[in-house]
Amino acid sequence: MRADTTVAPTSSNQPGDKLWAKKFPELGTEPIEAEPLISPEFFELERERVFRPGWLCVGHSCEIPAAGDYLVKEIAVCDASILVMRGPDGVVRGFHNVCSHRGNKLRTDPKGNCRGYLTCGFHGWTYDTRGQLRSVPDERNFFNLNKSENGLTPVATEVWNGFIFISLAPRESFKQYIDGVGTLLDGGDFGQLTLRRRYLIEERANWKTALDAQNEGYHVATQHRYMIPRLFTSTDEGQLRSADVRFFKRHSLLTCALNPECKPTQLEMTLGQIGNGATQCRLPMQGALDFYLVFPNFVLLFFRGRAHDSCVTHNFWPLAVDRTLWEIRFYEPAPQDAAALIGQDFGQVWNRVIFDEDASAHETVQAGLKSRAKKYLILQDEEAAVRYFHKVVEEHVGPYKRA
Ligand code: FES
Ligand SMILES: [Fe+2]
Repeated sequence: MRADTTVAPTSSNQPGDKLWAKKFPELGTEPIEAEPLISPEFFELERERVFRPGWLCVGHSCEIPAAGDYLVKEIAVCDASILVMRGPDGVVRGFHNVCSHRGNKLRTDPKGNCRGYLTCGFHGWTYDTRGQLRSVPDERNFFNLNKSENGLTPVATEVWNGFIFISLAPRESFKQYIDGVGTLLDGGDFGQLTLRRRYLIEERANWKTALDAQNEGYHVATQHRYMIPRLFTSTDEGQLRSADVRFFKRHSLLTCALNPECKPTQLEMTLGQIGNGATQCRLPMQGALDFYLVFPNFVLLFFRGRAHDSCVTHNFWPLAVDRTLWEIRFYEPAPQDAAALIGQDFGQVWNRVIFDEDASAHETVQAGLKSRAKKYLILQDEEAAVRYFHKVVEEHVGPYKRA
């Protein structure tokens, strides 16, 4: 893809039209197939071709700060349970959460501290935080059991700007996988971010339906007409125009710039300004709001604040072709006083309402598509990232062929 541009004002000082089709002519402008959003066969292929080789964000290092801390992530789409632990050397390691004896799940709780050792509840095999098998009850009654060869099965794991990624069947290193996005986000005060809130929402929608609903600015003028009317650069009719759209090997970035004519209410102004008492945190941002889709199912959303920047993440975890677990996380730098805490809470509640608005169409779109009344999705220019995402999915899975 070509180098980035920014929204070019027209002679009337309005942002231009069809900018992203001009920037990315190879992306095309045709309607896209609806069937991959409802096809059980396509979903089965996604398990193997998208999610197993993909690098998946399973948490943040701030959740396991001490030696012996662990978290467990169920990855239903891969039929996998992943155990991520911090060792006494500070290194974060990932393993299959599966005992080497007869395959029992080693930990069933979502997180905790193991004090150095994890013992399987079935027969008592015990492992250390490096995954090595350390003790076996009644070991002498086994036959040539070599403990050093029967530790936990490791999983490729990387910590990037605090975010923990794993891959079950990597085809390339994380550095190669994240290339482009990684370079843009090098530096910045990511170390100041801590997890403040987490929401889990199970929805009757395909994971791509839920993700698509976030991955464009066209819906803002309608779905968010009360929460963010003309907050970002818009046409005279109030239609949002992204400041920039970029595509990487698999990932994408939408950037929005603040609309200088937007007039926040007095309350919004006050709450937006009182957060000065938080720890310094500036992220390497391109605009006032940056929306990164890290393929396949992770969204990094950065907000430029007056006092400090904030981060929200989305994970869209497929459970079935028509069921998704939507995980929303809010990250903030530590507040140093009550005003900062209230200012941050205001921002989180504001976003939570917007995400509720987003969610209002996930299940209804899925139901509409499932009826097969429509065979195609008709995308406009501000939905270019949706088009690109589906193109990348298709490159992994193979083109969907209608019978
Ligand atoms: S299955 Fe874990 S000790 Fe037997
Ligand atoms: Fe939205």
